[in-house]
Formats: sequence, structure tokens, C-alpha cells
Amino acid sequence: MSEHDPSEAPWWTRAVVYQIWPRSFSDSDGDGIGDLRGVVDRLDHLELLGVDVLWLSPIYRSPQDDAGYDISDYRSVDPVFGTLEDLDALLAAAHARGMRVVMDLVVNHTSDEHAWFEASRSSRDAPQRDWYWWRPPREGHVGGEPGAEPTNWGSAFSGSAWAWDEASGEYYLHLFSRKQPDLNWENPEVRAAVHEMMRWWLDRGVDGFRMDVINLISKTLPLEDAPVPDGATLGDAFGAVASGPRIHEFLAEMTREVFGGRDGAFLTVGEMPGVTTADAVLFTDPARREVDMVFQFEHVDLDHGPGGKWDPVPLPPTALRDSLSRWQLALADRGWNSLYWDNHDQPRAVSRFGDDGEHRVVSAKALATLLHLHRGTPYVYQGEELGMTNAPLADASELRDIESLNHLREQVAAGRDEAEVLASMRPTARDNARTPVQWDDGPYAGFTTGVPWTDVNPNAATINAAAATADPDSVLHHYRRLVALRHDDPVVALGDFALVPSDDRVYAFTRALDDVELLVVVNLSGADVAAPETSSGWTGAELVLGVRPDGAVPVPGERLAPWESQVWRRTRPRP
Ligand code: GLC
Repeated sequence: MSEHDPSEAPWWTRAVVYQIWPRSFSDSDGDGIGDLRGVVDRLDHLELLGVDVLWLSPIYRSPQDDAGYDISDYRSVDPVFGTLEDLDALLAAAHARGMRVVMDLVVNHTSDEHAWFEASRSSRDAPQRDWYWWRPPREGHVGGEPGAEPTNWGSAFSGSAWAWDEASGEYYLHLFSRKQPDLNWENPEVRAAVHEMMRWWLDRGVDGFRMDVINLISKTLPLEDAPVPDGATLGDAFGAVASGPRIHEFLAEMTREVFGGRDGAFLTVGEMPGVTTADAVLFTDPARREVDMVFQFEHVDLDHGPGGKWDPVPLPPTALRDSLSRWQLALADRGWNSLYWDNHDQPRAVSRFGDDGEHRVVSAKALATLLHLHRGTPYVYQGEELGMTNAPLADASELRDIESLNHLREQVAAGRDEAEVLASMRPTARDNARTPVQWDDGPYAGFTTGVPWTDVNPNAATINAAAATADPDSVLHHYRRLVALRHDDPVVALGDFALVPSDDRVYAFTRALDDVELLVVVNLSGADVAAPETSSGWTGAELVLGVRPDGAVPVPGERLAPWESQVWRRTRPRP
């Protein structure tokens, strides 16, 4: 299979994926929480945008400790989102419009209320005991007392990664909240049960999976203390649990067991914090049949300071360019990139990488052009196509996310001032991405007829889908053009990438396929800057897309206005 030959390239090289985080997408029944019928109600919007695939964040039955990423039954729909019949109706309606549907697959852990975990915790001799990671207290310590945890690991959502189970007298591992116990993938019964569940969903008509923190499923044995970072009290388990010794084997086995012998156009994407380019090539090499693409984290971690995401630092001007172009080149011959600016775990793209004030529209378009003209499969997170911005988070009462709430509580307990902690959380809190989608300028932005579970951004009066649909110059219509361009022009999907030297504030590159060449130039700043030297050689080229704050038509080689973006196309002589 050649990924450079349009006739042989997999279908997802030309596809754009749209992520739906159902709780905040659209509410059909007035309970204030988005649901599956709400998604069906909004398919016109998605069809207008032209996206090929919908990725549904978890809708399974769940205590909702981590907004559905804690699943208590993989084969049912949580009543807040509807019923299995509603899901079938969504699959049918999406398929009728030519859109595929990919489910979130959360199998590094289950909820502690899942029947598997309940059986596992029931006693030390339970047949399913070994489905999770149980360990006795540290030698010489009494279980439940501080310091008795089997290893020094911290969990992602604060505190130890081990929870004490008084009844059975052992600890269980949870890399996320204590209501998210980690499954033991070393146990073949666990793997078989997951494979069977996945096949059940494919039989029901779903078109693939987005695999949650899938590179954490193979842990390095034995589980041991990890280095404690400066300023921290707990060990950083990451090195011991990310891309462990059997990860490639587990993914290849999953592909074989789940997709083997099936005809159809499926998509798999593995969410992989910390994945390197070298590993990503292996994970996505088509010959290895592991996953089609991975979500890497490098570009969304660039503004993390020494204290991580709650300690943000300004982004150096060339950081994005250096990182994204490195990924383009590393996966040029083997493997495939996924392309994203944001999702339900990240702040809004325009607030983080653009300018959500004066230049909101033009910078949102610049970011969109940049991402969608790369080689890879682009992902659009709900509301990104409207240029939705971060939430105000003016008061701690606006926070809903377990990660935010735990962090705030921990810091305040340690003596820090609440207002100061909140201020430090504002740029990166996951709550930013989780405000309701702004559909119109009516009550609660048309998201619900009831009272929404979390505040609607006050800028909904001006930033909303109805206004964007009516305005041909909106961010929405720009996204629509970008999606169409990928469908129509093979060079956008498959062309080779090359970086073009430019001012530090500019990201410029070419894409080339056979005799067609594109030049992409994006000013990633609010300043007026020189165009790359190369640009002047493109006089006479066709302007595919050009966006300037003053609405004027760009000219190759002329100085770039704030957040200006250009895409040029020309025929080049065959080598
Ligand atoms: C992934 C999800 C995130 C969740 C975590 C634990 O990173 O995207 O929302 O909290 O995994 O499941």
C-alpha cells in the first residue's frame, strides 16, 4: 500500500474527523445535558461542514466521575445521553448522510462500578481478581496508612495512584481517579473480553475506535517506585507505564482479533501521551497493522512549564513550527499523522495559539489553514469551527472537571490563595473546552431549553453557528472550504511536505504531488512581517485561499498582515 498514490491511499487520508463531546453538544430533552438525539438534530450543521467521520466521546453507562471516561457497562448507553436505540438511530442517520461514526474506547481502565471490578474486588481469591492490579501494602507497613502504598506513584488527578481496599486488604492501581481502576492487560482473559466487546460494537454498525490513553495498557513489570520530580512528593509513573514492553504486541493482537476478516472502511486512532516520533512510526506503519494513526501530545505540551500544565509558560515563536514540521518529516515515508489543535482535554485553539480578541476571526482561520494543509488526518473539536473561545472561569464555582476541582482543592489545602490558584488554572483547565456549543443567540445559545449543566460562554450572542452560517466570511465557512479542499485536491491529502525558511513568526511550507505544488504561508503573530523569500517566486500562482484582516487579496512576496494566511497552487515541471 502506498500512501503517496491517490488510487491506493486509505480512505482516511482524505477524511476529516469531527469530535463530539456529547454532554455539551446539543440537548434534545431539556434536562440541560447534551444527548444522542441532540446530535441527530444537528446533523445538518455537520453535513454543511462536510466532515467524513464523527468521533463520539464516551456515551456508555458511567457514574460520570470523569465525564464518562469511567465506564461501568461497555454495552449500554448512559441514560443521560439516551438509549441504545437512540445510538442506532444516530448511526443510521449519520450513515445515510455518508458520515462514519467512531466510538471512544476506554479500556486502560473501567469504572470501579463495572461488574468486572466488583467481581475482582469481592475477595482475594475471586476468579477475576487478576483482571486488575492488586498489590499488598509495602513491606513493613500497615495497609491504609500513609506510605504503605505499593509504589510511590502519583495519579493523574492528584494523590497516590493506589487506593486501599479495606475489605480485601490490598491496594488497586488507578492511574487516573480512584473510580478508574486500571485493567491488567497481561491477563489474556481481559484482552479477550475487550476484543469481544469491540466486535459487538462493529456488529452494531460503528466504524472504528478512538482509543483512550491506549499506550498505557502495557506496564513495565515489576511495578516499582519511580523517580520523584523536583518539587513533587510522589513519583512520576509515566516511564513505567507508557509504551511498555508489550504495547505493540497488544495492539497488533487487537487489530487481528477485532478487524481480522472484516470488510469495511474502519478508522482507529490511539491517544498516546508522550509518544515519540520513532514510536509513532512503528504504531502507524501500515505493514504492522497496529493503529491507523496516533494522537501525539508534543505541540499541546509546549506551553507547559516546569510544574506542568498548571504552570504555563509563553510559547516561543518558533515552537509550533519546529514541533509540527518535525512530526511531518518523521512520518513522511512510513506511518501517518493525526492533526489537531484542541479537544475536550485542551483549551480552545484560538485562545491558546491565536488571538481571541481583536484578531479572533482571522487568527482562527490562520490556525485552521495551517493544520488542514498539513499531511495527516485533521480533527475538528466541536465549536472550533465557530472560533469558540476559552471560558471566562471568573469564579471557582464555574469549574466542573474532576481534574480542575481536585487541583484547586489540593492547592488551597496546601495554603495557597484560591483566586491565585484559579488564575493559574485559567489558561489550561479542561473546563475551557467543555462549555455548551453556541448554536444561536437565544437563551443558553440554543443548546438547551432547560438549564445547562455548565455555563454558556457569554460571547454566544455574537459567536454562534446561526450567525456563522449566514456570514460567508465566517470561520465556519473557512473550515468548510478546507474540508472540501482535502476531498478535492490529492496534493492536500497526500503531497510531500517541505519546510520553507521564513521569519520566526511565520510558518511556511510546500506540499508537492506529481506536477502540483502548494505553498502555505501563515503569519502566527499580530505583527506585520516580511513574507518568506520563496514567496516572490510564486507570482502568477493561483490563490487557493487567502485571508487578511482587511479583506484584501494577498500578493505573493508582499509583507504579511497580522495573522494573514495564504495557500498558493501551481504546476511544476515533472522531475
Ligand atoms: C484521556 C481522555 C481524558 C480522560 C483520561 C482518562 O486522556 O481524553 O478526558 O480523563 O483519558 O480516561
